[in-house]
Amino acid sequence: MSNIRPDSMPRITTLELAQQFIDEQVAAVREQVGDKKVLLALSGGVDSSVVAALLIKAIGKQLVCVHVNHGLMRKGESEQVIEVFGKELDANLIYVDATDRFLDLLAGVSDPEAKRKIIGGEFIKVFDEEAAKLDGIDFLAQGTIYPDILESIKAAESGKPVKSHHNVGGLPDDMAMELVEPVKLLFKDEVRVVGEALGLPHGMVYRQPFPGPGLGVRCLGAITRDRLHALREADAILREEFDNAGLAGKVWQYFIAVPDVKSVGVRNEMRYEGWPAIIRAVNTTDAMTATIEEIPYALLHKITDRITHEVEGINRVLYDLTPKPIGTIEWE
Ligand code: XMP
Repeated sequence: MSNIRPDSMPRITTLELAQQFIDEQVAAVREQVGDKKVLLALSGGVDSSVVAALLIKAIGKQLVCVHVNHGLMRKGESEQVIEVFGKELDANLIYVDATDRFLDLLAGVSDPEAKRKIIGGEFIKVFDEEAAKLDGIDFLAQGTIYPDILESIKAAESGKPVKSHHNVGGLPDDMAMELVEPVKLLFKDEVRVVGEALGLPHGMVYRQPFPGPGLGVRCLGAITRDRLHALREADAILREEFDNAGLAGKVWQYFIAVPDVKSVGVRNEMRYEGWPAIIRAVNTTDAMTATIEEIPYALLHKITDRITHEVEGINRVLYDLTPKPIGTIEWE
């Protein structure tokens, strides 16, 4: 498949067009792969999930999916990967719970860039270790989408070094695996329609963007297990309440960040020291600038009430009203 999208290719806007695309790709992948094995890092994000479902349809157990849980996933995400791919789609799924490895390495590290480096580096290490245990893998599947290709082309044209795809970076050159990239000519909205046509759960297909280092960039300062747990629980409440209010899918990105700061509060008539949970809810088209979602007061009130009553360690809820710029979307 060429890296340039032909003018004749229709925009995939309907399930019918998606089905046609799926049929074509199933045939193309079978042709490319034959009876060989394909490896895929399955994060649970939209792109890798759609590629996994497509490849399972094309080559079944010849696809080996590796899901690395770095312990920084949102609540229920790794469980959903296991449920959907391991059980419902009966995939050849290797699940690696590397939580302790990551959290031990991150203990005491407060610098955001140092945290990112540890998480990214360790992720590649764990994935490589799993890949090395497997025999006879000739292909590596990737959830590359068309904006990634366009970005690379633009970078090459402007003379700047071509951005390496973050999901392959670090794999040893001598692995000599050929790439399988079935959605590389699609835009994100088209990938979602294909995901729906493949029968993936709506919540997975319309998942809001989530940074590679996961909750690691939202548990500010040095990550501790108790504060990470509080963040994950508070974030789950926020997502549930946005869902109930019909805002999921309408607001571009919404999440909780928890700084390493404690203040005094009162719970059950006792002094209660806790962290604040910070609500961030933004809208954007390209993530370069962002505006604040105006959350209705009643909903803010409900979220605050639930988080401060249900989450151990949180005693205040704050609402971040800062647009980008001057704030970035993530805290860190
Ligand atoms: P900032 O904080 O720079 O974020 O305004 C812009 C968008 O990028 C997402 N983000 C990431 N996405 N890997 C990703 O795939 C990353 O390391 C990463 N860091 C930030 C962020 O969630 C927001 O949508």
